[in-house]
Amino acid sequence: MSATVFVAKESSPGETRVAATPETIKRLIKDGLKVAVEPGLGEGAHISDDAYRDAGATLVADVKAAWEAADVVLKVDAPRDNPVVNGHEASLLKQGAVLVCHVWAHKSLPLVKRLVDGKVSCLAMELIPRISRAQVMDSLSSQANIAGYKAVLLGAAKLDKYFPLLMTAAGTIQPARVVIMGAGVAGLQAIATARRLGAVVEVSDIRPAVKEQVESLGAKFIDLPELEGGEGEGGYAKEVTPEFLKKQQEIVRKRVVAADVVITTAQVPGRPAPRLVTEDMVRDMRTGAVIVDLAADSGGNCECTESGQEVVKHGVTILGYSDLPASLSQDASALYARNVLALIGLFNKSGELQLDLEDEVIEGALLTHAGEVRHAPTRDALAAGA
Ligand code: NAI
Repeated sequence: MSATVFVAKESSPGETRVAATPETIKRLIKDGLKVAVEPGLGEGAHISDDAYRDAGATLVADVKAAWEAADVVLKVDAPRDNPVVNGHEASLLKQGAVLVCHVWAHKSLPLVKRLVDGKVSCLAMELIPRISRAQVMDSLSSQANIAGYKAVLLGAAKLDKYFPLLMTAAGTIQPARVVIMGAGVAGLQAIATARRLGAVVEVSDIRPAVKEQVESLGAKFIDLPELEGGEGEGGYAKEVTPEFLKKQQEIVRKRVVAADVVITTAQVPGRPAPRLVTEDMVRDMRTGAVIVDLAADSGGNCECTESGQEVVKHGVTILGYSDLPASLSQDASALYARNVLALIGLFNKSGELQLDLEDEVIEGALLTHAGEVRHAPTRDALAAGA
């Protein structure tokens, strides 16, 4: 018998994205699955119930019953308390059900406990290994790309001057100076976007490997000569020492102070974001300059950032939004839904579910399974809490 996939409506405030689109639902059905969706699922992404119905999905009449009956539940954000189902979504999942969503387990240990107790197989999208084969499923990249693009647009919209060099009858306007900290997925997209708008872009990162990518996008790489390789496991950055950070701050200071817009995206997995822009630098920036801090959620790259807020400090506007992908709900949903579809392809065999625990991608993403926590850092965090 075909397994049933239930696509639940997001219940977290401000979430506009969806985990399945009509395009991916058609594919799931073609691949042998039955698909049920919650009415109003696509409101935030401007996808109508009719579009889901036309794609072959069933619109459920009883949302709670749909959670309880599903073999696979798809979401963007982690399950939570939801008045629509009169309780916690995760408590409704049946034993052996597969849950696919972002979890961020270190911030949601009580949820992990629920999933373990309920013997749910949870594939956490953020844990998908960043290997070539899994690029098509990599929601961190698909969503970070959007954040990098939108950060530049927000910075440009807030700024009191043009981005491009302009030669007009009334004289020449100099291009905006943009400094980007962190040239990972979000940073590289921010560079490309700021360059397309005509800004002069300078970039700091501690992984020497990105210098070439930065330069190929037409930006200047700020060399940090003292660092012996900032590359850690899986292409990610290593956390730098406080001494190195101080040196780095000294080197980038001149550029930050002269910038019109600073976009910070620097992160180190599992660690607080490095503090690259001090309050002292903000004080020396020009009035009207803008900082967009994409690391706000993990503590911020700028000392003056307030998570989720727009603040003005020392005349500088600082944006600390962490929900930028949701502001491009259509494309963010289209990409996330394709990431999810590709992951389902690994364990759906013509409508029958088979989780291959030997598969590197499944193994990496499988947070909980058969009453156990399979992700070692989460297991350790739960043990420490207990
Ligand atoms: P991220 O969000 O963890 O970090 C963003 C950037 O911050 C990184 O470029 C990092 O080097 C930089 N950073 C950390 N500390 C810094 C400091 N003190 N100063 C300046 N910059 C600092 O990383 P993201 O964007 O998720 O991915 C980083 C890299 O991972 C990619 O560029 C790539 O090499 C690798 N990756 C591989 C993938 C694959 O093969 N499937 C997919 C995505 C990423």
